[in-house]
Amino acid sequence: MTKEGFAHHRPQWKTHLGFVLAAVGSAIGLGNIWRFPYLCYKNGGGAFLIPYVIALVVVGISLMVLEIGLGHKMRGSAPASLAGVSKKWEWVGWWQVILVMFGIMLYYAVIVAWCLNYFMFAVNGAWTDNPGNFFFNQFLMTSSGPFQFGELRTPIMLALLVVWGVNWLIVFLGVEKGLERANKIFMPLLFLLTAVIVIWSVRLPGAGEGIKVYLQPQFERLSDIRVWMDAFGQILFTLSLGFGIMIAYASYLPRKTEIVRDAFSICVINSIFSLFAGFGVFSVLGYMAESTGKQLSEVVDQSIGLAFVVYPKAISLLPAFSREFGLIFFAILVIAGLSSGISILEAFTSALIDKFHYSRKTVVSAVSVAAFVGGLVFTSRAGLFWLDIADHFLTSYGLVVGVILECLVVGWVFKAFRLREHVNHFSAWKLQRWWWDVSVRFIVPLVLVGLIASSLLEELASPYGGYSRLAVVLIGRDWLIFTAFAAVLVSARNWKSEPAERMITHKNA
Ligand code: ALA
Repeated sequence: MTKEGFAHHRPQWKTHLGFVLAAVGSAIGLGNIWRFPYLCYKNGGGAFLIPYVIALVVVGISLMVLEIGLGHKMRGSAPASLAGVSKKWEWVGWWQVILVMFGIMLYYAVIVAWCLNYFMFAVNGAWTDNPGNFFFNQFLMTSSGPFQFGELRTPIMLALLVVWGVNWLIVFLGVEKGLERANKIFMPLLFLLTAVIVIWSVRLPGAGEGIKVYLQPQFERLSDIRVWMDAFGQILFTLSLGFGIMIAYASYLPRKTEIVRDAFSICVINSIFSLFAGFGVFSVLGYMAESTGKQLSEVVDQSIGLAFVVYPKAISLLPAFSREFGLIFFAILVIAGLSSGISILEAFTSALIDKFHYSRKTVVSAVSVAAFVGGLVFTSRAGLFWLDIADHFLTSYGLVVGVILECLVVGWVFKAFRLREHVNHFSAWKLQRWWWDVSVRFIVPLVLVGLIASSLLEELASPYGGYSRLAVVLIGRDWLIFTAFAAVLVSARNWKSEPAERMITHKNA
């Protein structure tokens, strides 16, 4: 295909708002609603906001500009954009999208399926008065270890089928008719429902106590390296950075685009949403502590438990409209999860279309079926263990290493100043060399290498989460190796049309 022909056929967002909503939809996900409040609580309450904001400014905003700028300049998915820089580094782009699609997304869709199950359970409060027992023993029927698979859980499998059906349909319909239209419905609905829940929650008795715990700083926690790791990891995860998503989404932008302002807005909206949702979550926990006469520290649980054990318990204690509250809360999680899930599927789909010129319909259908089948292991009775191990290794190591490589390729091979000049050419808000170039070339890679090294040292001493070394190696390390290997293989195949041909130069801009 000719250069003009390709450019002509590349899909485009119909409106600028459509792009911003889709990017915000990708960013706001399960990570904002239960992960962020829990991390805040675990890592010193309000003091966590300090590393979180530092991570947002140092890594989040500079990388968001990098990914949107790169996708816009190269007009391609992550592998196409990195191949546009240098064919040698194309595999990094493939690794990002394969790791996310056939790693993170496999279990992410399963958590969305749980939320869908819980949305149904909310109708009659199926979790009764012992949500912990209900979640682990009746719903997941968790086995005794990662290799005791047992049967696949039918309710979860059916919900997963629905989730994949919706993901498939939206991405199948394409950028404008599918992703843009869906996010134009999802996002306003998400904001409205979240506002209802937060306003409702902060007025409950005991809410003030919950909010105090949420925000009260414990500065002594800042000396713990894990607090900083959680903050940086959370920023990458919550902004969908290193997923290849923002690169693909930006490739559908028109030439004239305010890249810096958009990147900044997406980051800020996402973080404000997290903070805001946290008020709702902690108010309800405060209410729960007050109505059961316990300390809040006794009722707050870790990660998954917060949404599926503690929260259902709190919901059943509400004095009125508890069913409606439950329905809205799980609807919020489902919507947030779907709007992020479709962005992951799109990032992978656009990569395959760019490289092999397959039809969108074929790619989306084949990938959705493969991902549904691949995700079934997480619906088995060992699913929770697999989820925990895979999530830890794929996000703490896979995503972070991918981001380090992305920064090095853009900062040193392509040269940061070239991308800065491209971005500034289109933006009224100008990037400054002293912070952006320095961040991309030095600060982000160095900070992330430091964090990964310290975390590795800790884990070499004792395997993650107290699992056996075999489980950690097979489910964690080997997943990383296998996806990297697949990335190298795909990148060795020929392109149907040269990636560099699509690049926006200032002459054609
Ligand atoms: N950014 C998405 C989330 O926070 C993946 O869930």
